[in-house]
Amino acid sequence: MTLILALETSCDDTCAAVVDGAAIRSNVISSQAAAHARYGGIVPEVASRHHLELVNPVVDAALAGAEVELGDLDSLAVTREPGLIGALLVGVSTAKGLAAAAGKPLAGVDHLHGHVAANFLEPGPIEPPFLCLIASGGHTLLAGVRDARRYEVLGQTLDDAAGEALDKAARMLGLGYPGGPAIEREAESGDPRAFDLPLAMTNDPRLDFSFSGLKTSLLYAVRELGPERAAERRADLAASFQAAVVDQLLVKLRRAARGGSKRRRLPGGGWRSVALGGGVAANGLLRERVAELCEREGLELKLVARELCTDNAAMIASAARFCEPTPYPGYLGWDARS
Ligand code: KG4
Ligand code: ZN
Repeated sequence: MTLILALETSCDDTCAAVVDGAAIRSNVISSQAAAHARYGGIVPEVASRHHLELVNPVVDAALAGAEVELGDLDSLAVTREPGLIGALLVGVSTAKGLAAAAGKPLAGVDHLHGHVAANFLEPGPIEPPFLCLIASGGHTLLAGVRDARRYEVLGQTLDDAAGEALDKAARMLGLGYPGGPAIEREAESGDPRAFDLPLAMTNDPRLDFSFSGLKTSLLYAVRELGPERAAERRADLAASFQAAVVDQLLVKLRRAARGGSKRRRLPGGGWRSVALGGGVAANGLLRERVAELCEREGLELKLVARELCTDNAAMIASAARFCEPTPYPGYLGWDARS
């Protein structure tokens, strides 16, 4: 087996993990959510500073949890892009230093390949080909995965990501940050049909998404109600918004799985297996609805554990198994262009 230590610092979680083949030996996640909550969203400068403070203890905890030392590793890996530049720099510099000190090769991993690769981990790893819906705070896309080393973007959001829309909606409703889990909790006691929010892009035969119009509709609904009634109807607003986000994801996932619509067949045809990734894939309603869809359409479904949907370093180590690591001194060729 191959022992890999991976670091992930692209956003507001400081993460390190040790993976042995497809088995997770340790997976440490230090969330900075509390530090950003008072600003209502992620402040890049604050994220970088926290990563700097947390990265060494998190790496130590990952090594200790896996009961390994640097010298035992076969290679290291780190998220190289996309993400907040200052946050990425902390992970990349730390990984470069550790790899150089240990004399080990280092792989630079695409964060979204990481979300796809969470599906290659135990328990129940799946193999390509499969269709993967990635919905996170920064990205929303449908990935065609025919080879573990890469993925093809079949469609993506033209404006906000699904998670970003949920975060902004939560802010409008005074539910705090991170918004996705807060909306999900609030929605439990609400009626998803209470507000008729628009289902965007569904008449568009392509596989792209759009969430900014939905966000504006919520803003108008809140304004029309006024502060007091909006607070009274908060659960209904949250439930309606969550349902609208999930509905759009479902429509496009179904279309991609079928290989297009009656009006337009998509190149590449349909899929027999479906997987999810990204923080929004931790959402209970989305998981439930995707499971129903797969049941109806006779598709095989892989649902990774919720903690492997949101950002973590085990998924980066998993992707690194299929990337070519670079030996010292050429580590990554990472520069300030990304
Ligand atoms: O993948 P992730 O941890 O970081 C990025 O790569 O962006 O995704 C974070 C996003 C946030 O927008 C957060 O609100 C959303 O995932 N999220 C959820 C849930 N948990 C996290 N959205 C809906 N329901 C959840 N349970
Ligand atoms: Zn992510």
